[in-house]
Amino acid sequence: MNVIKITNKDALSGEIAAPPDKSISHRAVILAALADGKSSIKNFLAAEDPLRTVEAFRQMGIEITEHRTQNTELIIHGKGLMGLTAPNGVIDCGNSGTTMRLLCGVLAGQPFSATLTGDASLSKRPMQRIIAPLTGMGAKITSQAKGCPPLNVAGGRMKPISYKSPVASAQVKSAILLAGLYCDGITSVLEPDRSRDHTERMLGAAGVEIRIKNLEVSVKGRAHLKPLTMTVPGDFSSAAFFIAAGVVVPGSEIFIRNVGVNPTRTGLLEILKLMGARIEVKNEHEVSGEPVADLHIRYAPLTGIAVGGGLILRAIDEFPILCAAASLSSGTTTIKGARELRVKESDRIKSMAEGLKKMGAGIEELEDGIIIHGRERLLPAALQSYGDHRVAMSMAIAGLMTQGETIIEDSDCINTSFPGFTEMLNRLQKS
Ligand code: S3P
Repeated sequence: MNVIKITNKDALSGEIAAPPDKSISHRAVILAALADGKSSIKNFLAAEDPLRTVEAFRQMGIEITEHRTQNTELIIHGKGLMGLTAPNGVIDCGNSGTTMRLLCGVLAGQPFSATLTGDASLSKRPMQRIIAPLTGMGAKITSQAKGCPPLNVAGGRMKPISYKSPVASAQVKSAILLAGLYCDGITSVLEPDRSRDHTERMLGAAGVEIRIKNLEVSVKGRAHLKPLTMTVPGDFSSAAFFIAAGVVVPGSEIFIRNVGVNPTRTGLLEILKLMGARIEVKNEHEVSGEPVADLHIRYAPLTGIAVGGGLILRAIDEFPILCAAASLSSGTTTIKGARELRVKESDRIKSMAEGLKKMGAGIEELEDGIIIHGRERLLPAALQSYGDHRVAMSMAIAGLMTQGETIIEDSDCINTSFPGFTEMLNRLQKS
């Protein structure tokens, strides 16, 4: 079990490139495997989670080769919508909710059955949210108590539905849209709010007919997907740790190149700016159908605010690092409407509340959020990651603002999304 040790350092400075986007890396593998012919995915995120998706499709007969130089390029030999074969064993999704939920959508349309398992964390996460719509479309899915994994998915005769999702979730939306590829006619998903839209952008780019009307996305089934030639943009959610670090450590100045700035993902930028952050978005351009930019981050004192509503969804994965930044702000930050955070890789409300309390922040845990009374510096502490990559990295950033040594135990989980995180942090501390 790895441990990260963080000691108080001076200002952070330097230039980094955001690591490749995790959500888009998963989707690239899935769509390329279902396309007719050879795809090239440049700047693929070779981290544990997306590699679970790669392995799953290899188990279903898809040839995928990895070329690792400075970045990773995947060559994927897609066999079309009906080209998969029954997996040669159980598919282990590891820690990856995206792998499990999106795969269920694909498996719903297959003429074979498959069993999906995951690690201790994934085995506790709710799957009923995909089981209900996919079953309504014709799949047969069995689960453990309360809809938890392992799951067995047997494809059925699929019929299109118009599904009104009770939860704004890109994983739910994507699972239904992927299952919709196996239906005659139009399948649609209506969300209570707009979740990240990478799947619909990428399906559109692959030549599938996609219609977006307000909060409803529709897909026309039985299309032939064109192979992809694409470059994965940088991950805003990984850049977020360094955005926050640059903002909270006095005297810091950081440039982060190649950051995905899809508006469904960048709520943290708006929140930090409302708190007083100095962040400039420069050189906006498009990479493979996604908006990308460079970010110029400078230290500025933050003041607590109230956060809720749609901003939470657009910063859903940034809750842990936002909590860390809020604990270093003057005044009080109140985050509400964030109940979903209870069912992520860990109960992120509880994980962050416990960790930041240990570091001396004033914390009140709410059913659907948290109240944080910030302070100028935190106290060094020995902290748990709770097996959650984003909690581990957020605690590491909070640890920069203590006088002493902060330890984050069980930090291997960082490799699910951001191998090289500590090295990148060290580079910014030395330059
Ligand atoms: C993701 C969607 C979000 C996000 C997760 C990745 C995706 O989950 O939290 O880290 O790639 O679709 P939900 O769909 O459960 O909100």
